[in-house]
This record gives sequence, structure tokens and C-alpha cells, in this order.
Amino acid sequence: MKYVLITGASSGIGKALAEKFAKEGHNLILAARRTNLLKIIKGELKDKYNVDIIIYTVDLLDSDEVQKFYAKTKEYDIEVFINNAGSGDVNLPWNSDIKKIEKMLDLNIKALTTLSIMFIKDNLDKDVQLINVSSTAGYNIISGEITYSASKVFVASWTESVAKQLKRLNKKIKVKVLAPSTTESEFIEKALIHSKNKHWEINAYKKQKKLRAKSAKDLANEGYKLYKNDKILGIIEDNNLKLSNGKYDNIRWI
Ligand SMILES: NC(=O)c1ccc[n+]([C@@H]2O[C@H](COP(=O)([O-])OP(=O)(O)OC[C@H]3O[C@@H](n4cnc5c(N)ncnc54)[C@H](OP(=O)(O)O)[C@@H]3O)[C@@H](O)[C@H]2O)c1
Repeated sequence: MKYVLITGASSGIGKALAEKFAKEGHNLILAARRTNLLKIIKGELKDKYNVDIIIYTVDLLDSDEVQKFYAKTKEYDIEVFINNAGSGDVNLPWNSDIKKIEKMLDLNIKALTTLSIMFIKDNLDKDVQLINVSSTAGYNIISGEITYSASKVFVASWTESVAKQLKRLNKKIKVKVLAPSTTESEFIEKALIHSKNKHWEINAYKKQKKLRAKSAKDLANEGYKLYKNDKILGIIEDNNLKLSNGKYDNIRWI
């Protein structure tokens, strides 16, 4: 039996992706820290779509847990591995809470890269996909979120480059980047924790984000189109999905 694995599936984009893949008949492995939410999602999706759902509680900030989690996933036939879990920070870099930044970088970069490498290594010549969730901020730095944006630049450039290298070497695995624009989720509220911005700046920021936000359901539908397509990048531009072979073209092939 084949499974789609989604990290960060307890809320927002990950939860919506879980519903979309279940609706399309895929079995799921859902991972996050909040087991209670995963259990509720499992119950709802199982009833609605009659697919098999496995939930896994993991703190991706803990390297040992990441290794144990990956070892456990190897017991299943995974057709799509989606590294979606991520966090943000809205601050000028020198105003940021260092502990929060360390956690954001460990989640957005370290856990994602570790899981990606292990999954690619085990599946080089298999008909499977790895989809890493970056952001439009991974292609255009946001001035009020420089450190977060740069973490997503890493995700975008690393994933695109790996995807292109794998294609050059005629490997079967497909590696892709999903780059959402502002999407309704818990992300913004959490990114604003410890923000040193003034109240009026935070309110203006939230208002602007709310105006532009796509629903997580719509974003998940776009994510599914990326899965069905052979292109490397699916980015939301002007509220629409643009599929391409990526934007990081300055690779020196040696
Ligand atoms: N929303 C946006 O506007 C937007 C725009 C562009 C890109 N993105 C990207 O989209 C992805 C999903 O974010 P979202 O918007 O859906 O935000 P969200 O609602 O806050 O979801 C984040 C998910 O990551 C999980 N997570 C956080 N820390 C974790 C940890 N240490 N270990 C395991 N799981 C952890 C959370 O679950 P638990 O708390 O239960 O662990 C949750 O399921 C992120 O990579 C984000 O950067 C979001």
C-alpha cells in the first residue's frame, strides 16, 4: 500500500494538503507534535474518504527524533514525501529572539535537509516524489522577515538544484518546490510571537496579509497540481499557480 507523508500536518497548509491527497484517494502518514490534532484529523479524513491514515508524533527540532521518525517511515511504501513543517519570524534580524531563530533555522533548514537527503538516497531510482515547501519569500526577500526569507531561499535553491542534478543524472525520483504566498494558517500569529515591531506595525502587517491570503484549501489544490505535473517549481504569483523548471538557474555544473 502506498502512502503520502506530510510533515506539519496538524494545521494550515499541511492539514489542507492531507485533506486534498485523501480526497484523491491517497493513504497518508501525518506528522507533527500535537498528537491530539493529528488524531482528530485522522478521524475526520478516514470517515470522509476511507483511506488509511497513520499519525506520527515527532518534534523535528530533535535530531534523534528525526532519525527515529525517518527509520519508522521506511516501513512504508512512500510515494510522496512532503516536507511542509516550518516556522517564521517577523522582526528586524537584530531584534529577533535568538532561541526562536535557532528553532526556525533548525526546522526550516536542518530537519528539512536531513529528511530530504535520507529520502532521496533511499529512493534514487524509484518512481516517487519529494516536495519541499518553500515560500514566495524564498524568491523575493521580505524586508520585515529577512531571516525567515533567507531560510526559504535555502529551501528553494537547495531543492531546485538537487532536482536539476537528479534530472541530469537521469534518476527516477522527482524533487519539487512548492512556494506558497500568504496563506491562511497559524503561521502569521506564531511568526509574530516575540516581535519587537510596534503595535500599529503589527496590525498593519496582519491587515495586509489578511487581504492577500489564499485559503489553505486553495493552496492545497495548487500543491496537488504541482504533484501531478512534471515541473520542478510551483509558485503562487498574483494569486495563481505558476509552474516552471525553477528560478535558480545560476548553477555551475562541474
Ligand atoms: N502561511 C503562509 O502564509 C505561508 C506562506 C509561504 C510559505 N509557508 C510555509 O508553509 C509551511 C506550512 O506552514 P503553515 O502556514 O501551514 O503554518 P502552521 O499552520 O503554523 O503549520 C506549521 C506546521 O508545522 C508543524 N511544526 C512546527 N514545528 C514543528 C516541530 N518542531 N516538529 C514537527 N512539526 C512542527 C506544526 O505542527 P505542531 O505545532 O503540531 O508540531 C504545524 O502542523 C511552512 O513551511 C511555511 O514556511 C507558509
